[in-house]
Amino acid sequence: MAQKTIAVIGGTGKLGAALARRWAKAGLQVIIGSRSQESASAAAEKLGFGLTGMTNAEAARQAGLIVVTVPFAAQEATCAEIAPHVAGKIVVDTTVPLMPPKVMQVQLPAEGSAAVRAQNLLGEDAILVSAFHNVAAHKLATDEEIACDVLVFGNAKAARAEVVALAKHAGLRGLHGGALVNSAAAEALTSILIFMNKTYAVDGAGIQITGTLIEPEA
Ligand SMILES: NC(=O)c1ccc[n+]([C@@H]2O[C@H](COP(=O)([O-])OP(=O)(O)OC[C@H]3O[C@@H](n4cnc5c(N)ncnc54)[C@H](OP(=O)(O)O)[C@@H]3O)[C@@H](O)[C@H]2O)c1
Repeated sequence: MAQKTIAVIGGTGKLGAALARRWAKAGLQVIIGSRSQESASAAAEKLGFGLTGMTNAEAARQAGLIVVTVPFAAQEATCAEIAPHVAGKIVVDTTVPLMPPKVMQVQLPAEGSAAVRAQNLLGEDAILVSAFHNVAAHKLATDEEIACDVLVFGNAKAARAEVVALAKHAGLRGLHGGALVNSAAAEALTSILIFMNKTYAVDGAGIQITGTLIEPEA
């Protein structure tokens, strides 16, 4: 299957820029999206690897797969920007519903998870998958090996499998985590990891699933 162009919405930020850099370095076509054309171009140029920068809407329009990397507070406005361009496309939501200042406490939204909220905001035509909640952006921004699995949630198994592959392109082990509603568990876990970073003075705690895993059939 031909590799889809990836739009990283909010790709000027910590998680988005780090993912975009890893994917571009792995040879994937990546567009950095921003609310501002100027910021998008500046971030793309700084990252190198042939990245281009566009407004979020234009990046979403041109891409075959969309990754949303914005703070929870910006999720609604960002979904409104890209909504006209998501029909039939996989949209990977990375949002952790952190509500400052209490980021070490689990505070899931009324919808149950940020991922389900994204599906509601974007409509049923978007193929929602959520992932990358538990991996520290400052580690992804380097070339180091990261001791963290990526749990991938979504109602469409084939779409989940594409995102499991994307995690691999970023140098991470992606694992199917089941239906989109299960995203609540990984989103909640991030507050616990932030608590552990502080309590145990660890530089970016991660999660790893134990046991011998046999790849599921496609
Ligand atoms: N940082 C991590 O280690 C990490 C790890 C796992 C998951 N996550 C999740 O990934 C998402 C992105 O995290 P991040 O740390 O990359 O965020 P960030 O750097 O603070 O922001 C990412 C981008 O979001 C855009 N944005 C749009 N509306 C915004 C608003 N109202 N306020 C601030 N920024 C806004 C900005 O891009 P423009 O100004 O260019 O539009 C910004 O560069 C969050 O939901 C976070 O919970 C983060």
